[in-house]
Amino acid sequence: MVDKPKVVLGVSGGIAAYKACELLRRLTESGHDVRVVPTAASLNFVGEATWSALSGNPASTEVWESVHEVPHVRIGQSADLVVVAPATADLLAKAAHGLADDLLTNTLLTARCPVVFAPAMHTEMWEHPATQENVATLRRRGALVIEPAVGRLTGKDTGKGRLPDPEEIFEVCRRVLARGVTEPDLAGRHVVISAGGTREPLDPVRFLGNRSSGKQGYALARTAVARGARVTLVAANTALADPAGVDVVRVGTAVQLREAVLKAAADADAVVMAAAVADFRPAEYAGGKIKKKDGQDPAPVALVRNPDVLAEISADRARVGQVVVGFAAETDDVLANGRAKLARKGCDLLVVNEVGESRTFGSEENEAVVLASDGSETPVPYGPKEALAEVIWDQVAVRL
Ligand code: CTP
Repeated sequence: MVDKPKVVLGVSGGIAAYKACELLRRLTESGHDVRVVPTAASLNFVGEATWSALSGNPASTEVWESVHEVPHVRIGQSADLVVVAPATADLLAKAAHGLADDLLTNTLLTARCPVVFAPAMHTEMWEHPATQENVATLRRRGALVIEPAVGRLTGKDTGKGRLPDPEEIFEVCRRVLARGVTEPDLAGRHVVISAGGTREPLDPVRFLGNRSSGKQGYALARTAVARGARVTLVAANTALADPAGVDVVRVGTAVQLREAVLKAAADADAVVMAAAVADFRPAEYAGGKIKKKDGQDPAPVALVRNPDVLAEISADRARVGQVVVGFAAETDDVLANGRAKLARKGCDLLVVNEVGESRTFGSEENEAVVLASDGSETPVPYGPKEALAEVIWDQVAVRL
């Protein structure tokens, strides 16, 4: 029998502690042995009984409980992953400075496994230089500090500082565990990913669109976060949950997508164009709904070209050494068309896949070949879109 992966769930004293109950559930239900280590302050929000009942393990706060088991050393040493959710400004400061005045901070010093912090606090506290420097210190040492989400905070405030959805924090934990003790190889990198499919409006109710779900782009965003990158996801008409730690910019049309991608790409180390961008848009937009007229044939729809974002970014790299990745969805002569497209677009990598009504669009799996401008070809067998995403980041990482 294989031992269950050991996860330490650290909970510090913020109102978002209640969301950690859901994260704990997801971790235990998916076969992890979870030990919750709450701080004393966090017990004001969620009590010890909840943690021990949900985890099936004791939940202690101080190093003075069960001293004969030397918990302040053993819990950290034996963990496969430590995740602190929520991580308050105070906890991040203690971790950055190596303080060890309770069981959680002791555990953080003894752990040699990957450590994930999911901060949650008010925007002012998050943006304060003290917090930002502590976060930078933790990241430099190899910890994964997930960017907080933007939205409603405690009270009436809104802004950056929300704890991401527990399900999305779980997704980060799952990927980090799968990677093992490898350093986050995209740490300190900014990557921009476009996802979904653009819609080109004909009138206020109709548009020309395509069948892209955005799942491949979202898988790229999630895997990049787990590898330590700062991620901007330009999402065109997707209906998927915001991945934890990702800055999501929502767009509708190809022109809007171009604007958002170019803006984010200005300081990006890599740009991955996974979105299905419409090559054409209606030449005219009818301000009112187009009505059918009895006895008259419908008027033809005139189209004009949209800008080619991938070609533009490949030609005008905003940064020296920026890696640009395109996708090619082909129905026939897949590899030959892919190679020609790689040359035409001028990108570094082109991920070629075969599409059809029942293939790729909206599905969880994908099969592809990653073509590189240096002539190499990496076939990726049929499997989860996440596995393809990992291969793409492997290829990007070696070129950075
Ligand atoms: N793309 C883009 N801007 C466009 C069209 C496409 O940036 N206006 C990007 C896509 O995001 C994708 C790549 O280009 O990464 C390939 O898109 P595709 O539509 O397959 O290529 P085309 O050059 O339009 O070729 P064709 O329609 O002839 O297959």
